[in-house]
Parts: sequence; structure tokens; C-alpha cells
Amino acid sequence: MKIEGSVAFVTGANRGLGAEYVRQLQARGASKIYAAARNPESVKTEGVVPIALDVTNADQIAKAIAECGDVNLLINNAGVVIGSGIMKENSLENAKAEFETNVWGPFNLSKGFAPALAANGGGVIVNVLSAVSWMTMKEVATYAMSKSAAWSMTNSLRLELARQGTLVVAVHPAFIDTDMAAGVDMPKTSPQQVVERTLDGVEAGIPEVLADDTAAFVKNSLPKHIETFYPRVSAPRP
Ligand SMILES: NC(=O)c1ccc[n+]([C@@H]2O[C@H](COP(=O)([O-])OP(=O)(O)OC[C@H]3O[C@@H](n4cnc5c(N)ncnc54)[C@H](OP(=O)(O)O)[C@@H]3O)[C@@H](O)[C@H]2O)c1
Repeated sequence: MKIEGSVAFVTGANRGLGAEYVRQLQARGASKIYAAARNPESVKTEGVVPIALDVTNADQIAKAIAECGDVNLLINNAGVVIGSGIMKENSLENAKAEFETNVWGPFNLSKGFAPALAANGGGVIVNVLSAVSWMTMKEVATYAMSKSAAWSMTNSLRLELARQGTLVVAVHPAFIDTDMAAGVDMPKTSPQQVVERTLDGVEAGIPEVLADDTAAFVKNSLPKHIETFYPRVSAPRP
């Protein structure tokens, strides 16, 4: 699908990766961009249509779907990390909150927008996932669970929406240089690169975007993921 002339709907469009999606969609000539944010006044980009949308709010989702029937490119970008190990206090509450935004948000938006995408020629759904869809770390266990679930959901959407001609694109970045990873002292990928690779993938009709070398390494390590990512627990016990 060409970005030029497309009608895009971006969640979490006010900052971070979402704001970069908006910028590059504009640069590639999208004809209309619905910039969805919990606080639409925080969308500072000129020339877009701000939409009030908390992706955990069913009424706001229904309103957005009713008002934006011309969409042919849905970008499920909004996400949250609370950062909790499973054995930590409040981990269930944290996991549920992360699933509300990272799984049920894109689930409801994809399901709700699917008829409009079909009516508009099939279109594209982009789900912003993570390298931690394929591995985990103690500090972000519940977030990684949500991104693994969202990966499975993305694969299912791909199967179910193939007949209506909708391309479903999974985007897997490692750390990105945004507020979300501000406290992380590790190499980070620029939002520009993640978005450029995503939009190149959309235009080329590619279903999976490895946004950086780390994500590619994680994916390629899956056949040996126990030895690679969990070496201390991989040795046989006497
Ligand atoms: N940064 C990373 O290292 C990294 C790595 C891999 C994947 N990702 C994924 O990339 C995507 C974008 O994250 P980012 O790096 O841009 O993070 P960010 O800078 O923290 O921005 C998160 C965005 O999501 C929005 N958001 C959070 N909860 C929401 C909700 N319930 N409803 C609507 N919007 C909500 C935020 O809106 P408010 O301004 O209202 O809070 C903000 O616009 C996320 O899906 C994230 O999981 C990030």
C-alpha cells in the first residue's frame, strides 16, 4: 500500500514513537491523519485531526470507529510499561493494566476498524510489538507477557483478515529512544529508524518488521532461546 494518499489512524500520537509516525506519514503524503491521544490537546503537529482516545475506553473506541470510517491504515502504537516481575507485589494489577493497553486496546481497535478497512480496499493494520514478544527480562516480565500475547493476536488477525485483503504488520523494536526507555542505560534505536522501517514495510507489503539488529538477533535466537537468554537456568540439574 502506498502511504501517499492513505488515511491513517495513529494511537498514542502525541509523543514518542507515535508522534514520529505522524511526522513521517505526513512527509510521505498521507492525505489524512487521525492523531489519537488520551489528551487530544497534547497533539502538537499541525494539519492532523486530533481524536480523544484512551485505548482502554470502549465508548471512545466506538466513537472513533464511527467517526473515522475512511481509515485504511491503522497504527496501534499506544503502549505502557509498568515494569513488574511476576513475584513482585501488585504484579497481577500491573499485568492487567499492561494487558488493557497493550493487548485489549489493539484487539478492540483492530476488530472495530476491520469492516472499515475492508470497505476501503483492505488496508493495513500495524501493531507495534517488541523484541520482548520473543524473550523476557525479570524487570519487565508482565510487559513482555503483554507483548507476547499481542504478537499471537497479530498472527491471528493476519489469518482472519487475509480474505478481506488486510495486511497485518508486526513491528518488533528493541529499546527505542523515547520516554518509555528513558531510565534504561542500554543502546537505543531512534524512533526515526523504527518508523522508517515500518512505513517501508507497509509500502512493500511485508508482514513483519525487525526494527533494529537487536530485534533481529532475538528472533534468530529463538531455536536456542533457553541457552541464549536464560543461561543460568539452562544447565541440567544434578
Ligand atoms: N521505548 C521503547 O524502548 C520501546 C521498545 C519496544 C516497543 N515499544 C513500544 O512502542 C510503542 C510506543 O512507545 P513509546 O516508546 O513511544 O513510549 P512513550 O514515549 O512512553 O509513549 C507512549 C504513548 O502511548 C500512549 N498511551 C499509553 N497508554 C495509553 C492509553 N491507555 N490510551 C492511549 N494512549 C496511551 C501515551 O499517551 P500519554 O501521553 O497520554 O501517556 C504515549 O503517547 C508502545 O507500544 C511500546 O510498547 C517501545
